[in-house]
Amino acid sequence: MMSVPAESERVLVLDFGGQYAQLIARRVRECRVYSELIPFDTPVDEIRRLRPSGLILSGGPSSVNNPDAPQLDPEILNLSVPVLGICYGLQMIAKIRGGRVGRTDRAEYGGIDLNVVGNSRVLEGVPQRFSGWMSHGDSVLETPPGFEVVARSPEIPIAAMEDRESGHYGVQFHPEVRHTDHGQEMLKNFLFRVCDLAPTWTPVSIIEESTERIREQVGAGCVICGLSGGVDSAVAALLTYKAVGDKLTCIFIDHGLMRQDEGREVENAFRNYFHVPLIHVHAEDRFLSKLAGVTDPETKRRIIGEEFIRTFEEEAAGLGEVSYLVQGTLYSDVIESGTRDAARIKSHHNVGGLPEQMDFELVEPLRMLFKDEVRVVGEELGLPEEMVWRQPFPGPGLAIRIIGDITEERLIILRHSDAILLEEVRKAGYYQKLWQSFAVLPAIRSVGVMGDERTYAYPVVIRAVTSDDAMTADWARLPYPLLERMSSRIINEVPGVNRVALDISSKPPATIEWE
Ligand code: XMP
Repeated sequence: MMSVPAESERVLVLDFGGQYAQLIARRVRECRVYSELIPFDTPVDEIRRLRPSGLILSGGPSSVNNPDAPQLDPEILNLSVPVLGICYGLQMIAKIRGGRVGRTDRAEYGGIDLNVVGNSRVLEGVPQRFSGWMSHGDSVLETPPGFEVVARSPEIPIAAMEDRESGHYGVQFHPEVRHTDHGQEMLKNFLFRVCDLAPTWTPVSIIEESTERIREQVGAGCVICGLSGGVDSAVAALLTYKAVGDKLTCIFIDHGLMRQDEGREVENAFRNYFHVPLIHVHAEDRFLSKLAGVTDPETKRRIIGEEFIRTFEEEAAGLGEVSYLVQGTLYSDVIESGTRDAARIKSHHNVGGLPEQMDFELVEPLRMLFKDEVRVVGEELGLPEEMVWRQPFPGPGLAIRIIGDITEERLIILRHSDAILLEEVRKAGYYQKLWQSFAVLPAIRSVGVMGDERTYAYPVVIRAVTSDDAMTADWARLPYPLLERMSSRIINEVPGVNRVALDISSKPPATIEWE
């Protein structure tokens, strides 16, 4: 967990497993107050030690009346720190404080019209009628003593409640979701009016905070940082360099799964902008031989995660006593790899794909941030624009875009197709408008006709998405002339391809990468 120096003001979000839990922390940071997520069962003494200015209890998939459901330690409500409960969090407060929670006739999902009633602090300034985004089965049926109802609808008589004296607030809807009208205003009311905080934190504050934290973690030890060429690892490296100076060595491992010319470009960009020693490891044969014949996506990811670590270990051995490995892991990598309270979607190579045994302690200064927050930090650190705005490229590289067997022939086909696709995207002025744009090579072939000859060759799939943070994404509506140029160039210029298809799936239910 990333933490900040003791004197920083912060709001802690207790994670009860709701799908929006991290979004709450992010929305609080957008209000310029530092926030991070902690497990719901963090011991009360640890919470006291962190001296939060406010606590937010997240939503969660369980029913508070289920004996196996995650429970809030009632002591947390006696800390004299303001608490805002959201959905499950509200129900937890209601239950502990002596109210009644139960199932009503129907579950509520989506936007519900609500009325502000009474004199609310959290809903101050919100129009009398507003729409709140709901996703719940249980409801508060009876308010606990001391609470006033401040929002309701005919179907949900207790949609928000407050006990100002004890500083306990709760809403049944999700203010962190954009579909709730004035949700951000509600969070600001809690932060600035109830918790009496000031909007002083920015993502840039991470620079000072995390350099201090890194220094604390690594002490006098030597550190290596895995570089990929992307903004995350570059920012992580620069923060570490600020913290430990020449105790840092950066390592770029070329696993043979990079795009066309990428290895050389990454090395050049790094040597131009950084003054940190760099080791460029050519590990193409090592990775590709381990992956030969492997078709299962999770197995590919685990092999790559493990080989990265083993290669780092071998390189570190040549550098003397190195006990720390810096990674640019982001929150989206963490959540998709699965946490105790959230399901595993895929094992990101730098989280779920890591081996159990390794010689390093990890240093991950960006673990609680989203990509756009990291980009702000990158700009502030003076990284060049092309690095800050480079589209994300996954650590396992083309291995997870070649469906099925990874062979030299198929790598050449994908690299070539992908290079054409990206060239056309850039020429059309779309590169920065898209979260990602890339080619995928499926494990099927189809019949075509070229000249007068029959062909039996691979299709290439165009995948282009828009997104704010990779947690959700939409397929990009690229102009037809651009699609047409990509298609005709790929089919004409790449031997082994006779068809181009377009992926028009959003996330969810698809994911951005195919594996
Ligand atoms: P998905 O495919 O899960 O991807 O929608 C979300 C974002 O994460 C990137 N991604 C990865 N990045 N290591 C990484 O560094 C990985 O193992 C990995 N898997 C997916 C993906 O490119 C997208 O931006």
